[in-house]
Amino acid sequence: MTMTTFKKTLTAAAVSAALLPAQALQAGEVEVLHWWTAGGEARAAVALKEMMEDQGHTWKDFAVAGGGGEAAMTVLKTRAVSGNPPAAAQIKGLDIREWAKLGFLTSLDDVAEANNWGQLIPPVIADVMQYEDSYVAVPVNVHRVNWLWANPETLNKVGVGVPKTLDEFYQAAEKLKAAGITPLAHGGQPWQDATVFEAVALAVMGPDDFASAFVEHDMDVINSAQMEEVFAEFAKVMSYVDDNAAGRDWNTATGMVIRGEAAMQIMGDWAKGEFTAAGLTPGEDYVCAAAPGTGGQFTFNVDSFAMFSLSDEDNTKAQKDLARTIMEPEFQAVFNKAKGSIPVRTDFDTCAQASMDTFKSSAEDGGLVPSFAHGLATTSYVQGQIFDVVTNFVNSDNKDPARATDQLAAAIQAAL
Ligand code: GAL
Repeated sequence: MTMTTFKKTLTAAAVSAALLPAQALQAGEVEVLHWWTAGGEARAAVALKEMMEDQGHTWKDFAVAGGGGEAAMTVLKTRAVSGNPPAAAQIKGLDIREWAKLGFLTSLDDVAEANNWGQLIPPVIADVMQYEDSYVAVPVNVHRVNWLWANPETLNKVGVGVPKTLDEFYQAAEKLKAAGITPLAHGGQPWQDATVFEAVALAVMGPDDFASAFVEHDMDVINSAQMEEVFAEFAKVMSYVDDNAAGRDWNTATGMVIRGEAAMQIMGDWAKGEFTAAGLTPGEDYVCAAAPGTGGQFTFNVDSFAMFSLSDEDNTKAQKDLARTIMEPEFQAVFNKAKGSIPVRTDFDTCAQASMDTFKSSAEDGGLVPSFAHGLATTSYVQGQIFDVVTNFVNSDNKDPARATDQLAAAIQAAL
């Protein structure tokens, strides 16, 4: 290379460097573990990937399919134990602290401080993201779990409205069944069973007893006549599921509602992501309502990414950019629209604000409870025990609420 071409090359490099966004000068790779593989979920995840790539970073997708994330957590444990964790992993609720306690996670306090997270994240969520007063995870969204999704045309066919109570649900379900329509779309997987069980438990017990049982694990509330009623009502609700539910994915069940093969589904608002991905309009093509008997109450589920300690400097920079990006308004808007959730920030547009207002007002009037089906209420040990009892109950030919209640009490006790 002659001196002139060398100088030209140097100048060109300097010019293009000046044109690049500052962040891209130090580009790294972020490997991100998640389980967002269904239609709406995947669209949401791509938004994050693209925003990271726009900053010059490389996104290494570590998607482990399986709603509710059980499979993803198993894979994560193997990777972490072998000393090779990803930069970020979708870890939620009480599990965040468990990972932090074991020394795997890194502090995000510098990002939190520089970006004012203290003001932007509601305290009830900020608390979950911290270990010993340091941020180790960043929240992505707030999902409400106790939703009922319905196909209005299918309900119209049998002349029923969207059921607001369990009794109304049973009445509607009987008519649908008589017309040869599956009343309730469902997938027979433990976390889905628990999602419906949780909605029924909230309807029967109300938020106070729900929290006593599933957050505080008060044995008098768990091992009670009221819990037997929960199991009895749950059995009745599940009797309206078709015979082919075993192993069915949640989004396949949502597809049944979309196509009118089934009338309703009890599922968190990630189901809205499926309706949105299918180009459908809420209030017209589909309706959402509180799960029967849980109006005004809010079972919350917060998705979050916990950040693992890394040694590579560029990758650490990319990881911090990931954490910052997740809390930025642009990302929160695009992601949550696709995902069906509400943004975690408190400074948002009117619709999202209305939802956040319910989140906050239910926090004040006691109607806000953490979801145990989605890991926000209790440890994964207790959660696993509840899943076993509930799923065994669903799959038993001889459903005995009293025996199930005893089993639930014994199982939770054993995991404490
Ligand atoms: C939940 C998770 C949601 C959604 C759902 C189904 O546990 O919080 O984001 O992905 O599982 O996969």
